[in-house]
Amino acid sequence: MAEFTLKIRRYQPESGESAYWEEFKVDLDGKRSVLDGILQARDRQDGSIGIRCSCRAAICGSCGVRINGKPALACHTHLDEAERVAHGVGWNAPDEGQELPAITVEPMGNFPVLKDLIVDMDAVHWKKVQRVTPWLLPEGPPPEREYIVPPESMIDVTQSMACIQCGACVSDCLSMEVDPLFIGPAALAKAYRFVGDPRDGQHRERLQDLAEDPHGIYDCTHCFNCIEACPKGVAPMSQIMRLRRVSSADYGIKDRNNGYRHEHAFVENIRRNGILHEADLLPDSYGGKFHPRAVPELFSSLPIVTKALQRRKMTPGKALGHPHKAPKEVKRIFEQVEGRGERYELNLYVVGVEEDEEALADNEAALASDEGPDAVGGEEHAAAAGSHLPEERSPNA
Ligand code: FES
Repeated sequence: MAEFTLKIRRYQPESGESAYWEEFKVDLDGKRSVLDGILQARDRQDGSIGIRCSCRAAICGSCGVRINGKPALACHTHLDEAERVAHGVGWNAPDEGQELPAITVEPMGNFPVLKDLIVDMDAVHWKKVQRVTPWLLPEGPPPEREYIVPPESMIDVTQSMACIQCGACVSDCLSMEVDPLFIGPAALAKAYRFVGDPRDGQHRERLQDLAEDPHGIYDCTHCFNCIEACPKGVAPMSQIMRLRRVSSADYGIKDRNNGYRHEHAFVENIRRNGILHEADLLPDSYGGKFHPRAVPELFSSLPIVTKALQRRKMTPGKALGHPHKAPKEVKRIFEQVEGRGERYELNLYVVGVEEDEEALADNEAALASDEGPDAVGGEEHAAAAGSHLPEERSPNA
């Protein structure tokens, strides 16, 4: 047993007062969760602390909060680990009588707060999940029995299916902070779950809709926060990038947000210059300097350009001239990638072991002669022969 200090952000809308911090001391084993600490404080010290929870096992997704400023599941964060993070780098076991750092717990960001640590999931999260039509839309008459789907085609969507809808990714989404209407990482990861499912018959319609929406797939700015925040390894930003790749490369959807053109302008810019020439990227994304659409678009970008010049992110010299030309290595990489017959998608969520052909043949021979796998090399061979099945990488492991 040890003593931990929880510094909880309190807010009671009925009181008419603004939010404030309150500290609670709790006695628990360090391997118990922050949620256990909050529940102990509620049981023993203040029954009015508001926290939403259910399974206490990182399954239901209801206890999402910010711990030490980072989104996390309260039931999936050990008290001793949270205390170590609260203290910062170089934390060792405390000396006798040493003041312990407080673990801060506050409601998730980007959500309206209802009370203390409870946020309004309807307003921000569930409405957006509904927005992406989160159910299968198969085409044609249904089969007589169930839909049969090859297992390998479902591997691609396993990662997005692991989402428990806790909202941690939404809490730290920088795009949503700037544009609250952004559909957001959780809902777009859910969208990929159906775009990647071969039983769905409306892939093009779904992608067209998400690409044309000014708050859709091209509103993500690749900040990676959602990948870091997700407690289940769903990597929502990777799912958004997959949606973009399928939309642009497989369906050739040219959206009105210039997402498609920007992507292609970026690739051509690197092919030409080796490193990015930003001054060219803007007009190229609108169809080139002399394209009729480029003039109004460039005018609308003038405030951004002015700011970039003021902050010396760009100088007139750099903007107008660009001394770099792509070296041979860059050209070679382009040729190699574009020369491939098919695009490789790496789904790093699902891991498997290469099938050992030799062990498999040995095993089959042993089974055929009724001697069992041990006769041709023991457990090692048996394990290798059966190891081709993909296994899920559990983020909780
Ligand atoms: Fe269910 Fe934490 S209580 S995920």
